Amino acid sequence: MAVKLDPRLLTIAEMVRKDGKICDVGTDHALLPCYLFEQGAGDVIASDVNEGPLKAAEATVRQYGAENCVSVMKSDGLRDVPPCDDVIVAGMGGELIARIVTECAFKNENTNFILQPMTKAEILRTELYANGFEITEERTAQSAGKIYTVMLVKFTGNKQEISDKFAFFGKNSDAAYVDHIKEKLRKMAKGNEKYNELL
Ligand SMILES: C[S@@+](CC[C@H](N)C(=O)[O-])C[C@H]1O[C@@H](n2cnc3c(N)ncnc32)[C@H](O)[C@@H]1O
Repeated sequence: MAVKLDPRLLTIAEMVRKDGKICDVGTDHALLPCYLFEQGAGDVIASDVNEGPLKAAEATVRQYGAENCVSVMKSDGLRDVPPCDDVIVAGMGGELIARIVTECAFKNENTNFILQPMTKAEILRTELYANGFEITEERTAQSAGKIYTVMLVKFTGNKQEISDKFAFFGKNSDAAYVDHIKEKLRKMAKGNEKYNELL
């Protein structure tokens, strides 16, 4: 039986290299690691900090017969995760994702981070650049009437301050995403005029 992913997780999966060691942080049900296994990935960690998701992840790995390729482990962020080539952090708030990525002890120029914030993408972008990371690409995913951006991020060591405009729009020039952010800024401008300048 093939793993079925929604368009959000599918977009993330497309941005992951399948030939290295991969970690899906905050995996919950581990559907993404099992899909990557079906796509030819040979070494995937499905990590989570909570017991319920870890149990669900183990059940999914068994269901898809992925035990030889997908290992489930408990970790707060990347704290106990061994060095990986590709790190996925998806479906969490931008501040938490920023904390998890900036704390990464094994990052180097060849590590790919695939990040998908549910909220506060502007804080995530600001923190990434302030800590020497750079966004190389962003793609839009639309699922169940919602719009998400998925970022491909690298560590350069070059710390930079970014503009407010870049913090909100990032490298995603897709019309649907731009409209979505403009709508958010219009709402924010009702409480604070400065957001009008970014429209
Ligand atoms: C909403 S789910 C997202 C699941 C999946 N990544 C996705 O995008 O569909 C968030 C998951 O992150 C886990 N989580 C929250 N904080 C975490 C942390 N500090 N380290 C690892 N996992 C965490 C939660 O237990 C939960 O399973």
